[in-house]
Amino acid sequence: MPHIRVLDRSGHGLNFVDVDGNWFPGDVDEQLIRKIPNMEIRDDDVIICGWMRSGTHWTFEVTNMILTGSAKTVEMPKQDQMIERISLDQQRALSSPRVLNTHLQFHQLPVGARQKKTKIILLLRNPRDCAVSWFNFQKTIEYFDYDGSWEDWLHLFLEGKMDWGSWFDYVRHWERALDQNPDHPVFVLQYEEHKADPVETVERLSRFLDCPVSTDLCREIASECSFHKMKENKRDFAWTSQSGVHVHYRKGVVGDWKNWFKEGQCEEFDRVYRQKMAGSRFEKLWAS
Ligand code: A3P
Repeated sequence: MPHIRVLDRSGHGLNFVDVDGNWFPGDVDEQLIRKIPNMEIRDDDVIICGWMRSGTHWTFEVTNMILTGSAKTVEMPKQDQMIERISLDQQRALSSPRVLNTHLQFHQLPVGARQKKTKIILLLRNPRDCAVSWFNFQKTIEYFDYDGSWEDWLHLFLEGKMDWGSWFDYVRHWERALDQNPDHPVFVLQYEEHKADPVETVERLSRFLDCPVSTDLCREIASECSFHKMKENKRDFAWTSQSGVHVHYRKGVVGDWKNWFKEGQCEEFDRVYRQKMAGSRFEKLWAS
Protein backbone atom coordinates (compact mmCIF):
# COMPACT_ATOMS: atom_id res chain seq x y z
CA MET A 1 0.00 0.00 0.00
CA PRO A 2 1.37 3.43 -0.93
CA HIS A 3 1.34 4.88 2.58
CA ILE A 4 3.21 8.12 3.00
CA ARG A 5 3.96 10.38 5.92
CA VAL A 6 3.96 14.09 5.13
CA LEU A 7 6.04 16.15 7.54
CA ASP A 8 5.36 19.68 8.73
CA ARG A 9 8.24 22.12 9.21
CA SER A 10 8.88 20.82 12.76
CA GLY A 11 8.99 17.20 11.64
CA HIS A 12 5.52 16.12 12.80
CA GLY A 13 3.84 13.85 10.29
CA LEU A 14 0.41 13.17 8.82
CA ASN A 15 -0.44 9.74 7.38
CA PHE A 16 -1.85 9.67 3.87
CA VAL A 17 -2.35 7.15 1.09
CA ASP A 18 -0.83 8.25 -2.23
CA VAL A 19 -2.68 7.08 -5.34
CA ASP A 20 -0.86 8.29 -8.44
CA GLY A 21 0.05 11.57 -6.77
CA ASN A 22 -3.38 12.16 -5.23
CA TRP A 23 -3.41 12.00 -1.45
CA PHE A 24 -6.15 10.47 0.69
CA PRO A 25 -6.49 9.85 4.44
CA GLY A 26 -4.35 7.05 5.82
CA ASP A 27 -7.23 4.57 6.14
CA VAL A 28 -8.51 4.84 2.55
CA ASP A 29 -8.42 1.71 0.37
CA GLU A 30 -6.29 2.32 -2.73
CA GLN A 31 -8.21 -0.31 -4.72
CA LEU A 32 -11.52 1.48 -4.12
CA ILE A 33 -10.03 4.73 -5.35
CA ARG A 34 -8.85 3.09 -8.54
CA LYS A 35 -12.37 1.83 -9.26
CA ILE A 36 -14.04 5.25 -8.99
CA PRO A 37 -13.92 6.19 -12.71
CA ASN A 38 -15.97 3.08 -13.57
CA MET A 39 -18.47 3.39 -10.74
CA GLU A 40 -21.99 2.80 -11.98
CA ILE A 41 -24.09 5.95 -11.85
CA ARG A 42 -27.89 5.87 -11.73
CA ASP A 43 -30.10 8.41 -13.48
CA ASP A 44 -31.47 9.79 -10.21
CA ASP A 45 -28.19 10.00 -8.27
CA VAL A 46 -27.24 13.33 -6.73
CA ILE A 47 -23.62 14.10 -5.82
CA ILE A 48 -22.52 16.47 -3.08
CA CYS A 49 -18.99 17.77 -3.67
CA GLY A 50 -16.93 19.94 -1.37
CA TRP A 51 -13.54 20.41 0.21
CA MET A 52 -13.35 18.90 3.67
CA ARG A 53 -15.46 20.46 6.41
CA SER A 54 -17.59 22.55 4.05
CA GLY A 55 -20.88 21.21 5.40
CA THR A 56 -21.26 17.85 3.65
CA HIS A 57 -23.04 16.02 6.49
CA TRP A 58 -25.49 18.90 6.89
CA THR A 59 -26.28 19.07 3.18
CA PHE A 60 -26.47 15.27 2.96
CA GLU A 61 -29.19 15.30 5.62
CA VAL A 62 -31.12 18.18 4.03
CA THR A 63 -30.92 16.64 0.55
CA ASN A 64 -32.11 13.25 1.71
CA MET A 65 -35.02 14.81 3.53
CA ILE A 66 -36.04 16.80 0.46
CA LEU A 67 -35.84 13.71 -1.75
CA THR A 68 -37.86 11.58 0.65
CA GLY A 69 -40.33 14.37 1.45
CA SER A 70 -39.88 13.84 5.16
CA ALA A 71 -38.09 15.65 7.99
CA LYS A 72 -37.06 12.39 9.63
CA THR A 73 -33.45 11.78 10.66
CA VAL A 74 -31.60 9.76 8.02
CA GLU A 75 -30.60 6.51 9.73
CA MET A 76 -27.30 6.26 7.93
CA PRO A 77 -23.88 7.89 8.16
CA LYS A 78 -23.08 10.09 5.19
CA GLN A 79 -19.84 8.13 4.64
CA ASP A 80 -21.97 5.11 3.68
CA GLN A 81 -22.63 7.01 0.46
CA MET A 82 -19.18 8.51 0.09
CA ILE A 83 -17.67 7.71 -3.31
CA GLU A 84 -14.16 7.22 -1.93
CA ARG A 85 -15.27 4.79 0.78
CA ILE A 86 -17.91 2.42 -0.57
CA SER A 87 -17.27 -0.88 -2.25
CA LEU A 88 -19.04 -2.06 -5.39
CA ASP A 89 -21.37 -4.26 -3.33
CA GLN A 90 -22.23 -1.40 -1.00
CA GLN A 91 -22.92 0.89 -3.96
CA ARG A 92 -25.31 -1.62 -5.48
CA ALA A 93 -27.11 -2.22 -2.19
CA LEU A 94 -27.98 1.45 -1.70
CA SER A 95 -31.57 2.31 -2.45
CA SER A 96 -32.38 5.13 -4.86
CA PRO A 97 -32.24 8.03 -4.96
CA ARG A 98 -28.66 7.94 -3.72
CA VAL A 99 -27.04 11.05 -2.28
CA LEU A 100 -23.43 10.31 -3.12
CA ASN A 101 -20.79 12.58 -1.70
CA THR A 102 -17.12 13.19 -2.28
CA HIS A 103 -14.12 15.49 -1.91
CA LEU A 104 -13.00 14.72 -5.45
CA GLN A 105 -12.68 17.25 -8.24
CA PHE A 106 -14.96 17.24 -11.28
CA HIS A 107 -12.54 15.39 -13.58
CA GLN A 108 -12.04 12.68 -10.92
CA LEU A 109 -15.75 11.85 -10.61
CA PRO A 110 -17.10 8.60 -12.05
CA VAL A 111 -17.20 8.95 -15.83
CA GLY A 112 -20.93 8.16 -15.75
CA ALA A 113 -21.63 11.22 -13.61
CA ARG A 114 -20.17 13.49 -16.24
CA GLN A 115 -21.88 11.65 -19.09
CA LYS A 116 -25.30 11.59 -17.41
CA LYS A 117 -24.94 15.16 -16.16
CA THR A 118 -25.71 14.03 -12.65
CA LYS A 119 -26.96 16.86 -10.43
CA ILE A 120 -24.13 18.20 -8.31
CA ILE A 121 -24.33 20.30 -5.17
CA LEU A 122 -20.99 22.07 -4.80
CA LEU A 123 -20.22 23.24 -1.26
CA LEU A 124 -17.98 26.17 -0.50
CA ARG A 125 -16.91 27.54 2.87
CA ASN A 126 -14.51 30.19 4.10
CA PRO A 127 -11.14 28.41 3.81
CA ARG A 128 -10.07 29.77 7.20
CA ASP A 129 -13.00 27.97 8.86
CA CYS A 130 -12.35 24.85 6.76
CA ALA A 131 -8.74 24.91 7.95
CA VAL A 132 -9.59 25.24 11.64
CA SER A 133 -12.21 22.53 11.37
CA TRP A 134 -9.98 20.11 9.42
CA PHE A 135 -7.06 20.68 11.80
CA ASN A 136 -9.26 19.78 14.77
CA PHE A 137 -10.50 16.69 12.97
CA GLN A 138 -7.07 15.48 11.92
CA LYS A 139 -5.65 16.06 15.40
CA THR A 140 -8.25 13.74 16.91
CA ILE A 141 -8.54 10.96 14.34
CA GLU A 142 -5.91 8.29 15.00
CA TYR A 143 -5.15 7.25 11.42
CA PHE A 144 -3.63 10.65 10.67
CA ASP A 145 -1.38 10.29 13.73
CA TYR A 146 -0.63 14.02 13.85
CA ASP A 147 0.70 15.59 17.01
CA GLY A 148 1.99 18.87 15.62
CA SER A 149 0.83 22.40 16.36
CA TRP A 150 -1.82 24.57 14.69
CA GLU A 151 0.95 26.93 13.51
CA ASP A 152 2.85 24.18 11.69
CA TRP A 153 -0.30 22.54 10.37
CA LEU A 154 -1.48 25.83 8.87
CA HIS A 155 1.72 25.94 6.83
CA LEU A 156 0.91 22.54 5.37
CA PHE A 157 -2.58 23.81 4.53
CA LEU A 158 -1.19 26.88 2.77
CA GLU A 159 1.26 24.71 0.84
CA GLY A 160 -1.60 22.44 -0.20
CA LYS A 161 -0.04 19.42 1.50
CA MET A 162 -3.38 17.94 2.44
CA ASP A 163 -5.34 14.79 1.69
CA TRP A 164 -7.45 15.52 -1.40
CA GLY A 165 -5.08 18.41 -2.06
CA SER A 166 -5.07 22.17 -1.66
CA TRP A 167 -8.27 24.08 -0.87
CA PHE A 168 -7.17 26.74 -3.36
CA ASP A 169 -6.57 24.24 -6.17
CA TYR A 170 -9.86 22.54 -5.38
CA VAL A 171 -11.90 25.74 -5.71
CA ARG A 172 -10.02 26.97 -8.79
CA HIS A 173 -10.45 23.57 -10.38
CA TRP A 174 -14.21 23.60 -9.80
CA GLU A 175 -14.43 27.10 -11.12
CA ARG A 176 -12.87 25.96 -14.38
CA ALA A 177 -15.16 22.93 -14.46
CA LEU A 178 -18.21 25.21 -14.11
CA ASP A 179 -16.96 27.38 -16.96
CA GLN A 180 -16.12 24.44 -19.21
CA ASN A 181 -19.35 22.53 -18.53
CA PRO A 182 -22.04 25.21 -18.51
CA ASP A 183 -24.79 22.67 -19.21
CA HIS A 184 -23.91 20.45 -16.26
CA PRO A 185 -26.41 21.14 -13.43
CA VAL A 186 -24.42 22.39 -10.45
CA PHE A 187 -25.90 24.14 -7.43
CA VAL A 188 -23.24 26.15 -5.63
CA LEU A 189 -24.00 26.37 -1.92
CA GLN A 190 -22.00 28.46 0.48
CA TYR A 191 -21.92 27.32 4.10
CA GLU A 192 -22.30 30.93 5.21
CA GLU A 193 -25.46 31.41 3.11
CA HIS A 194 -26.90 28.18 4.42
CA LYS A 195 -26.29 29.35 7.99
CA ALA A 196 -27.79 32.77 7.30
CA ASP A 197 -31.04 31.41 5.87
CA PRO A 198 -31.55 27.66 6.27
CA VAL A 199 -35.23 27.69 5.24
CA GLU A 200 -34.54 29.59 2.05
CA THR A 201 -31.66 27.20 1.35
CA VAL A 202 -33.97 24.18 1.64
CA GLU A 203 -36.41 25.89 -0.77
CA ARG A 204 -33.68 26.67 -3.30
CA LEU A 205 -32.26 23.16 -3.06
CA SER A 206 -35.68 21.58 -3.54
CA ARG A 207 -36.17 23.62 -6.72
CA PHE A 208 -32.77 22.52 -8.01
CA LEU A 209 -33.63 18.91 -7.24
CA ASP A 210 -37.04 19.25 -8.98
CA CYS A 211 -38.59 18.04 -5.80
CA PRO A 212 -41.19 20.53 -4.60
CA VAL A 213 -41.52 20.80 -0.84
CA SER A 214 -44.20 22.74 1.04
CA THR A 215 -43.16 25.80 3.02
CA ASP A 216 -44.01 24.00 6.26
CA LEU A 217 -41.83 21.04 5.34
CA CYS A 218 -38.99 23.38 4.35
CA ARG A 219 -39.17 24.88 7.83
CA GLU A 220 -39.28 21.45 9.46
CA ILE A 221 -36.31 20.20 7.44
CA ALA A 222 -34.28 23.32 8.23
CA SER A 223 -35.09 22.92 11.91
CA GLU A 224 -34.34 19.18 12.06
CA CYS A 225 -31.02 19.85 10.32
CA SER A 226 -29.91 22.62 12.65
CA PHE A 227 -26.50 22.02 14.16
CA HIS A 228 -27.77 21.18 17.65
CA LYS A 229 -30.49 18.82 16.42
CA MET A 230 -28.07 16.96 14.16
CA LYS A 231 -25.43 16.77 16.86
CA GLU A 232 -27.99 14.99 19.02
CA ASN A 233 -29.90 12.95 16.43
CA LYS A 234 -26.93 11.85 14.31
CA ARG A 235 -24.69 10.99 17.23
CA ASP A 236 -24.65 7.28 16.43
CA PHE A 237 -23.77 7.97 12.78
CA ALA A 238 -21.00 10.53 13.27
CA TRP A 239 -17.24 10.09 12.99
CA THR A 240 -15.66 9.16 16.27
CA SER A 241 -12.03 8.62 17.11
CA GLN A 242 -10.92 5.11 18.03
CA SER A 243 -11.04 6.16 21.65
CA GLY A 244 -14.69 7.13 21.18
CA VAL A 245 -14.33 10.92 21.04
CA HIS A 246 -17.08 12.52 18.94
CA VAL A 247 -15.24 14.83 16.61
CA HIS A 248 -17.62 15.63 13.85
CA TYR A 249 -20.13 18.11 15.30
CA ARG A 250 -17.65 20.61 16.67
CA LYS A 251 -19.05 24.18 16.66
CA GLY A 252 -21.06 24.65 13.47
CA VAL A 253 -20.57 28.42 13.31
CA VAL A 254 -19.29 30.99 10.84
CA GLY A 255 -16.03 32.70 11.74
CA ASP A 256 -14.53 30.47 14.45
CA TRP A 257 -11.22 31.01 12.63
CA LYS A 258 -10.95 34.39 14.39
CA ASN A 259 -10.33 32.47 17.62
CA TRP A 260 -7.44 30.59 16.03
CA PHE A 261 -5.56 32.84 13.64
CA LYS A 262 -2.87 34.95 15.27
CA GLU A 263 -1.70 38.20 13.71
CA GLY A 264 1.12 36.93 11.52
CA GLN A 265 -1.03 34.01 10.40
CA CYS A 266 -3.83 36.28 9.14
CA GLU A 267 -1.35 38.18 6.99
CA GLU A 268 0.31 35.04 5.67
CA PHE A 269 -3.05 33.51 4.86
CA ASP A 270 -4.24 36.67 3.11
CA ARG A 271 -1.04 36.83 1.06
CA VAL A 272 -1.47 33.25 -0.17
CA TYR A 273 -5.20 33.80 -0.68
CA ARG A 274 -4.62 36.89 -2.85
CA GLN A 275 -1.98 35.08 -4.88
CA LYS A 276 -3.94 31.85 -5.42
CA MET A 277 -7.38 33.39 -5.90
CA ALA A 278 -6.41 36.33 -8.14
CA GLY A 279 -8.98 36.62 -10.93
CA SER A 280 -11.26 33.97 -9.41
CA ARG A 281 -15.01 34.57 -9.37
CA PHE A 282 -14.78 33.60 -5.68
CA GLU A 283 -11.87 35.94 -4.95
CA LYS A 284 -13.90 38.58 -3.11
CA LEU A 285 -15.98 36.09 -1.11
CA TRP A 286 -13.44 35.43 1.58
CA ALA A 287 -10.86 38.17 0.97
CA SER A 288 -10.19 40.02 4.19
P1 A3P B 1 -16.90 22.97 12.53
O1 A3P B 1 -15.74 22.07 12.76
O2 A3P B 1 -16.47 24.38 12.16
O3 A3P B 1 -17.89 22.97 13.64
P2 A3P B 1 -18.37 18.25 6.75
O4 A3P B 1 -19.68 17.67 7.04
O5 A3P B 1 -18.20 18.70 5.34
O6 A3P B 1 -17.25 17.37 7.22
O7 A3P B 1 -18.26 19.61 7.59
C1 A3P B 1 -18.10 19.60 8.99
C2 A3P B 1 -18.36 20.99 9.53
O8 A3P B 1 -19.75 21.29 9.41
C3 A3P B 1 -18.03 21.07 11.02
O9 A3P B 1 -17.67 22.44 11.23
C4 A3P B 1 -19.38 20.73 11.63
O10 A3P B 1 -19.53 21.11 12.97
C5 A3P B 1 -20.29 21.52 10.71
N1 A3P B 1 -21.67 21.05 10.73
C6 A3P B 1 -22.13 19.78 10.78
N2 A3P B 1 -23.48 19.76 10.80
C7 A3P B 1 -23.89 21.04 10.76
C8 A3P B 1 -25.17 21.68 10.80
N3 A3P B 1 -26.28 20.95 10.86
N4 A3P B 1 -25.21 23.02 10.77
C9 A3P B 1 -24.07 23.75 10.70
N5 A3P B 1 -22.83 23.21 10.68
C10 A3P B 1 -22.73 21.88 10.72
